[in-house]
Amino acid sequence: MEKKSFFIKTFGCQQNEADSQRIASYYLARGYRLAKSMKSASEIVINTCMIRQSAEDRVTGLVKNIAKSANRWTRPKIVITGCMVGMAARDETGTYLKTLRGRMPEVDEFLPLEEVGFDYPALRNDVSHSWVPISNGCNNFCTFCVVPFTRGREVSRPFGDIISEIKELARHGCGEVTLLGQNVNSYGADLVKNSKAGYRLPGGRVVKPVMVKHLGRYRIPTLFPYLLEEVCKIKGIKKVKFISSNPWDFSDELIEVISKTPKIDRNIHLPVQAGDNDVLKRMNRWYLRKEYIKLAQKIKNKVKGAKISTDIIVGFPGETKKQFENTVDLAKKVNFAYAYVAKYSARPNTAATKALSDDVDYAEKERRFHILDQLINHTGTNRSAVH
Ligand code: SAH
Ligand code: SF4
Ligand code: F3S
Repeated sequence: MEKKSFFIKTFGCQQNEADSQRIASYYLARGYRLAKSMKSASEIVINTCMIRQSAEDRVTGLVKNIAKSANRWTRPKIVITGCMVGMAARDETGTYLKTLRGRMPEVDEFLPLEEVGFDYPALRNDVSHSWVPISNGCNNFCTFCVVPFTRGREVSRPFGDIISEIKELARHGCGEVTLLGQNVNSYGADLVKNSKAGYRLPGGRVVKPVMVKHLGRYRIPTLFPYLLEEVCKIKGIKKVKFISSNPWDFSDELIEVISKTPKIDRNIHLPVQAGDNDVLKRMNRWYLRKEYIKLAQKIKNKVKGAKISTDIIVGFPGETKKQFENTVDLAKKVNFAYAYVAKYSARPNTAATKALSDDVDYAEKERRFHILDQLINHTGTNRSAVH
């Protein structure tokens, strides 16, 4: 009998790209072979994103297209995995799963990432650059964001596992890695048992965890600056990047490590989301506009050649024209290298959806989007970025 074959279509962020590489190994281990195209596969795995409604719509569109290609018995099996399934698995009311089944009755299987697990080795095509997850999930609950519901609470990968994986990658010719997490700055908070006693790194060195802010107070012991240092020491590694890193817990220790380690990329992504204090507060982002501007300045002063890029949401519930103007003003002051500007989209189960009304109309969101996109991405030498 012909061996079963699979093809993975990935939507969403780099974290999903990295997950898809593990899902591929999971399928290979179960005896499937990798199909060359979606058309020739007996099973199509769609790794989904639901950060905005438009991301969900792209998934639904693809499922409908596949289903149209043949009848139920001859068409490939359709499996969905990733954030939409993560949300369904964590939504105890069952409402979201019902919504998915109603919207996409063509889906044959819902595959939660937990079933794949985190131990399959990533199947990578690119030898020179690798995505390396260092944590999964998020504890921050920004009120607009669905990620804590789709991926659950933050879990750090063991320090030693990350270092061993990168050593192995370097041995096979990989010179560049990007460390991935929803908030890399809090990496290790769950690994540190007793911050006073210190933390023993895989090489034996005992270090003092760095305390970073959570909900406005310095109370999370993290290891991220040490992880960066150790990764940079690996022979063969020439460049180290990381995403995402948030403003409230970007520590002085982290700035110090970046400034003295030339292997660390000087392009720093620091999502601001809004430049107005009231909006930031309603977003549950624990910093003020002036603190963000000061941090950006500090990074540029201490890290030679640093360029700062960002994410911004326009049309968050209740955002007035005046409040939007404060974001425009912040963008002018910080002089971002580029920005991913997004129109606010209400997401299921989030605090913003539950408590606030999505009251900025679409045309106004579009207008604000274009103003910021034009200002940041299409003037001077800045490059374009829209996602
Ligand atoms: N963990 C990362 C990435 C979060 S998702 C971080 O904290 O930066 C990536 C981006 O999508 C966010 O930075 C935000 O700008 C955007 N985004 C998230 N939820 C959104 C929503 N409900 N509507 C519009 N954009 C959203
Ligand atoms: Fe979402 Fe905020 Fe967590 Fe980023 S830090 S994943 S925006 S909740
Ligand atoms: Fe990434 Fe989308 Fe999930 S941005 S974390 S794939 S909801």
